[in-house]
Amino acid sequence: MTILKTSVAKKVAMALSGLFLVVFLLLHLAINLTLIYPGKETFDAAVEFMGTNPLIQVMQPILFLGFIFHIIMGIYLEWTNRSKRSVKYVKNNQAVASSWASRNMIWTGLFVLVFLALHLFNYFVPFKTQDVSDHYALVTGLFKNPVYTLLYVLAFVLLGIHLSHGFQSAFQSLGTPREKCNKFLVCCGYIFAIVIAVGFSAVAVYFYFN
Ligand code: HEM
Repeated sequence: MTILKTSVAKKVAMALSGLFLVVFLLLHLAINLTLIYPGKETFDAAVEFMGTNPLIQVMQPILFLGFIFHIIMGIYLEWTNRSKRSVKYVKNNQAVASSWASRNMIWTGLFVLVFLALHLFNYFVPFKTQDVSDHYALVTGLFKNPVYTLLYVLAFVLLGIHLSHGFQSAFQSLGTPREKCNKFLVCCGYIFAIVIAVGFSAVAVYFYFN
């Protein structure tokens, strides 16, 4: 696509796809929290709404494409950045100036990707292909498996680390003035990352023990 030829356009596209996934995560977290409070009835109603609402049906393939785009673009940007970073001392200088999260976006992203495949296999495939009568039981039942719950928590801690850099980076890619907004965006990024990591993990741990 010619529009994605410049590196600025690629960064902007990456930022937009990342922020699109951020909105999806917030919606997903809100639905997951209903598992704990108010509980089964509200969760089942939310699943029913997500499965039948026409707008959500239109958004599902768009979300899928958003993920695919973000993953392919992330791998491409990492690959081109690595081939540019051939001089060793430049690499070391960057290591001093940048955070662990920013240097490991590809690894935190790839771990999330592996978990996503497992998650789709466990939830989305049965939802779509079988006549699941009790969504609540299917979802909460999986958290009784300690290996699954451990992987789940690890994936969301790594996603939190991905977002602790990704959130502010996305706004900077979109042209937010660095001097004026940097501290504020970094702070919002950390808060958002903690909300996502703790929120999703709390639901899993709660159902493991209850
Ligand atoms: C729900 C899942 C995800 C969310 C919410 C998310 C969010 C974000 C955000 C907001 C950014 C910052 C974009 C920017 O710098 O402009 C980002 C960057 C990045 N993401 Fe993700 N991401 C997710 C999953 C993934 C996955 C599965 C991969 C796998 C390859 C990945 C790889 C990357 C990479 C490599 C970057 C840095 C790109 C660069 O060099 O600027 N992400 N992500």
